[in-house]
Amino acid sequence: MTKILAIETSCDETAAAVVEDGQYIRANIVASQIDIHRRYGGVFPEVASRQHILAINTVIQDALIESRTAWSDLDAVAVTYGPGLSGSLLVGVNTAKGIALAQEIPLIAVNHLEGHLYSNWLAHNGQAPEIILPALCLIVSGGHTELVLIHGHHDYEVLGRTIDDAAGEAFDKAARLMGLGYPGGPAVQKAAQGGNPNAFKLPRAKTRQPYDFSFSGLKTAILRIAQRYSDHLNRPSDVATSRGRDYSPGKTMPVQNLAASTQMAIVDALVTKTKAAAEAFAVKEVLIAGGVSANSLLRQEMADQIDLPVHYPPLFLCTDNAAMIGAAAYWLYQAEIFANWDLDVVPNLKLG
Ligand code: KG4
Ligand code: ZN
Repeated sequence: MTKILAIETSCDETAAAVVEDGQYIRANIVASQIDIHRRYGGVFPEVASRQHILAINTVIQDALIESRTAWSDLDAVAVTYGPGLSGSLLVGVNTAKGIALAQEIPLIAVNHLEGHLYSNWLAHNGQAPEIILPALCLIVSGGHTELVLIHGHHDYEVLGRTIDDAAGEAFDKAARLMGLGYPGGPAVQKAAQGGNPNAFKLPRAKTRQPYDFSFSGLKTAILRIAQRYSDHLNRPSDVATSRGRDYSPGKTMPVQNLAASTQMAIVDALVTKTKAAAEAFAVKEVLIAGGVSANSLLRQEMADQIDLPVHYPPLFLCTDNAAMIGAAAYWLYQAEIFANWDLDVVPNLKLG
């Protein structure tokens, strides 16, 4: 049995987990900073790294206590070294180095995106999923939208990615334009309930590469629509003069229909390309991962439109956590791929 302590501090969650054999979660502690960042409408990097420093020791202690793990029981310590915010990543990497040095155990450097991908291997309700390769994984988070062909463990090919905004970013920006809260994805999903997904004709972008994504046109289209309504804007008089005939003073934005149409536009783009790639590369299964894989319409449309087994992690493993880092680390441990003491953070680290 291999017991790995995993640490994740790439963005706004300070997380530590103890994972056995890459699949069994013995503890999974996440200290979220969402309430702190909400007042800025997004993640504030300096605040994030400070919060990580304040929270990290307690979060690790809690993970060890909850899993009844002594320091001497650990086989390795794993940490996210990118992509993410450099100040935030540094807190995790330096902490992990300290632990590896003090306990004389290997240090494992994990790519955050690979972590999301491996969240699909984690057992839940006592059941370890069996995933048949080759598989296709759509990683959709606040910072990333990537379509990855998985040949084997740590053997991937990125087929396409977003050329502008990530899917989660599209949800977050749309939510802001509609006056909904942060983070935007869950807010849009909630607002969309009962709305008509065809009420607004929103663009599905064409890209030069067949498996790339683009969401900036969608954002512009939503902005244009939002500008027709006065109720969510701070300075309606400015908009009234600059928007001319389109502007309807006093008209309330049909948020429910706009949210439903936005959600459908994003989900449609994701499912269409995933389905095309799954067929073109004759994969056995399809996985989705990352914060946006929590979206219920995305899960449903993937299952309805793709004729293959579709896996997705339980909700608590979709958004950032350290258990997924422990899962990815296990396969690196097996291959004896360890990091050196000069390990540095790589804020724009890519997959593959
Ligand atoms: O993976 P994650 O927690 O952090 C990053 O690595 O970015 O993803 C966060 C993103 C946010 O953009 C958030 O709006 C989105 O995931 N998200 C959702 C849902 N829950 C979270 N998007 C759509 N529907 C949801 N239910
Ligand atoms: Zn993430």
